[in-house]
Amino acid sequence: MPILSGRARVAGIIGWPVAHSRSPCLHGFWLERYGIDGAYVPLAVPPASLPAAIRGLAAAGFAGCNVTLPHKEAAFALCDRVTDAARRIEAVNTLVFRDGKIEGSSTDGAGFLANLRAHGVDPARPALVLGAGGAARDIAAALIDAGASVSIANRTPGRLDRLLRLFPALTPLPWEARAAALPDFALLVNTTSAGMAGRPPLEIDLARAPPSLIVADIVYAPLVTPLLAAAERRGLTTVPGLGMLLHQAVPGFAAWFGVTPSVDRALTDFVAADLGISAPASSPGA
Ligand code: ATR
Repeated sequence: MPILSGRARVAGIIGWPVAHSRSPCLHGFWLERYGIDGAYVPLAVPPASLPAAIRGLAAAGFAGCNVTLPHKEAAFALCDRVTDAARRIEAVNTLVFRDGKIEGSSTDGAGFLANLRAHGVDPARPALVLGAGGAARDIAAALIDAGASVSIANRTPGRLDRLLRLFPALTPLPWEARAAALPDFALLVNTTSAGMAGRPPLEIDLARAPPSLIVADIVYAPLVTPLLAAAERRGLTTVPGLGMLLHQAVPGFAAWFGVTPSVDRALTDFVAADLGISAPASSPGA
């Protein structure tokens, strides 16, 4: 870590817990690469202390912070201004402290789209999103904005119903129909936590997948999930989740430190090494 001056810009990530977060590693890489007089630190804050912590960081001159689980909804309520994307999902992951105000945004959906585009994939295509948690919300909204027609399926129907009330533009698909419906789609997105290291793989038979189907996963550890491995075996184009983690961090870094950072192979390798996973040689770097 470079030696800071008295004018250093400071940002960080608030979570509870926060020790697992890769954001300090990722922002630290960029700070060093661009020779910026700044720091990005982990901030373990329990839920009851969140309002005092956020207002305290703003009062202490922090440039802003990221907000991760379980604080995304509570932080939304503390913002003076929020972006349209954040308002729609009622959650934020990025705060900028400017002119005495707290500005909130949610960058996961845009990060997902940026990752698709970095892999040469145009998001405006018929998509099937699996899952109905916080990530599904962000990604489905971003895909709709990008002009995709989006169908969605979730293992537990009640959870899907709540999402459909928020986003009437989504078309529900029964969970049991997910494999048989694949010929209708150009993009399949796993937003569930299935396939994460230590969890069971996502259950889906890709036998009916059309040869042009693009399979994206937001799980990034392992980098190649069982779903992506199955898709690769069928010769399908795949988009691993690590790039979304990297791309969602770009707007915050740009706002806090004044440089729009690039997502490339060196960053991907650095964060993958921190995660204890290795990026395959064929990865385009994001
Ligand atoms: P969140 O913090 O977003 O709520 P989560 O509880 O891990 O995260 O669940 C996120 C999504 O992963 C949910 O859509 C969940 O499906 P359910 O609503 O049916 O619980 C989905 N999910 C988790 N494990 C899954 C599995 N093995 N198969 C299918 N979906 C799964």
